[in-house]
Amino acid sequence: MSGPNRISRRDFMTATTALIGGFIAVVLGVPSVAYLIDPARKSGGKEAWVPIGKLKDIPVGTPAPFSFTVTRVNGWERTSTTYSGFILRSSNDPKDVLILSSRCTHLGCRVNWHDESQTYQCPCHDARFNKLGGVISGPPPRPLDRFAVFNVDADGNVVILVKES
Ligand code: FES
Repeated sequence: MSGPNRISRRDFMTATTALIGGFIAVVLGVPSVAYLIDPARKSGGKEAWVPIGKLKDIPVGTPAPFSFTVTRVNGWERTSTTYSGFILRSSNDPKDVLILSSRCTHLGCRVNWHDESQTYQCPCHDARFNKLGGVISGPPPRPLDRFAVFNVDADGNVVILVKES
């Protein structure tokens, strides 16, 4: 039997396959997209106070190195960032503290403190910074970055505020 409104077996199979395929795409596709997007929606706004050294153990006048790693968990993704720098006390006043990043402001190599010359030196392109982080020589475009938000907690730890980025 055939008539003007009848569809062929081939057309019926094609239409049915497309319908089932579309249904599977909707059922399986939407949750996987939501899973991928969801962690991104949850991120942001986190910050933590991180102890970097006991104030009483940091000598006045000599930069004391510190280093720590923060691991951020965003859904299935873990990202670790290592921070390092120097704590400089200029007097016995607990507020008289300068906290510098050891990341060179040229291309990001780690600077080292040299007692003899009283400078931070970058091994990559021979830059030198003074004790307060100012550029003495070399290609860096600006002084060493500072951890500007810090405090001394009840246990005498110098703590700095690290924000999620
Ligand atoms: S990275 Fe420090 S001088 Fe180039």
